Amino acid sequence: MNPVLRVENLHVSVGAGHEAVRAVSFAIERGGSVGLVGESGSGKTLTCRAVLGVLPPGVAVTGGTIHLGGDPDPTDLTGLDRRGWDAVRGNRLAAVFQDPASYLNPSLTVGRQLAEQLRLKRGLRRGLTRAAAVELLAAMGLRRPAAVFDQYPHELSGGMLQRALIAIAVAGEPELLVADEATTALDAAVQAEVLELLRHLRETRGLALLLVSHDLAVVAEVCDRVAVFYAGEIVEQGPTAEVIASPRHPYTEALLRVASLGDWRRRDLEVIPGRPPEPGAMPAGCRFAARCAHATDTCATPVPLSTVDDRQVRCHRAATLELVGA
Ligand SMILES: Nc1ncnc2c1ncn2[C@@H]1O[C@H](COP(=O)(O)OP(=O)(O)O)[C@@H](O)[C@H]1O
Ligand SMILES: [Mg+2]
Repeated sequence: MNPVLRVENLHVSVGAGHEAVRAVSFAIERGGSVGLVGESGSGKTLTCRAVLGVLPPGVAVTGGTIHLGGDPDPTDLTGLDRRGWDAVRGNRLAAVFQDPASYLNPSLTVGRQLAEQLRLKRGLRRGLTRAAAVELLAAMGLRRPAAVFDQYPHELSGGMLQRALIAIAVAGEPELLVADEATTALDAAVQAEVLELLRHLRETRGLALLLVSHDLAVVAEVCDRVAVFYAGEIVEQGPTAEVIASPRHPYTEALLRVASLGDWRRRDLEVIPGRPPEPGAMPAGCRFAARCAHATDTCATPVPLSTVDDRQVRCHRAATLELVGA
């Protein structure tokens, strides 16, 4: 395996001794995709921001490595200076977020913004950018792409805007696209179409995808691997289909009950009782123990990550529990 992105033992601190992301490791192959899933506040966005080099003020990577580009010459992003980042961001990696409108200039047409990106990133001469931009908009599944080119952001629907933003993101032909809750604000039908587009880009362009969603069903649509976050740690990781069919961590099992998965539609809105620990008050043992129906005294002691086959689980009782999948 020679992954496009390899995150190893990543730690992100949000202040004195408060780690919002701890010991996070995962890798994405060319054309592959990893989905980060978990409740709000579990560290998914900070992990993405660490990868993109856009952590908020006061938040910093305090451990680990993030390698972009496979062997023989991967770049450790954690060691980049500002000029190094300028060469990487928007070129080798790009991102789309929940609120596409806020990433576009409202006073310029969509086409002008995309054409500018093509000029900057692909070195296209001005005379050639319109045709290339219209072609790229069409490739994003936008009907009437020439008309969209001449429209302003406020004239497009949420789904069209997100497609336009994905066009801008892939204009520089990145190796990796980070999509953080990129379809969350869209209604279900449009969300499904945009997820289909992301899957298509993976398959046709070999784009690696790091996708974040609080909804396991979204990850199941697009990602071949899933990493389940809880309170800043990955508690379970493995092939999506296997994790969903037979979860090995009680938190994954609980998350499956609240996910909007396929025909089951079991979305009984059964919220998991209790709340995750605060970053300043993490227990020494399992971080989920206080909310876990299966917890025993052992769970108060630190939990190592165990690997069985292609699955990683951070649970003392993983080998003995019989958990229910979807
Ligand atoms: N700028 C910040 N300053 C301090 N703490 C932050 C900041 N951003 C996020 N956090 C904290 O880090 C944790 C993880 O946040 P985040 O990565 O945004 O979670 P998620 O994306 O999974 O909802 C949360 O406890 C959050 O309160
Ligand atoms: Mg988030």
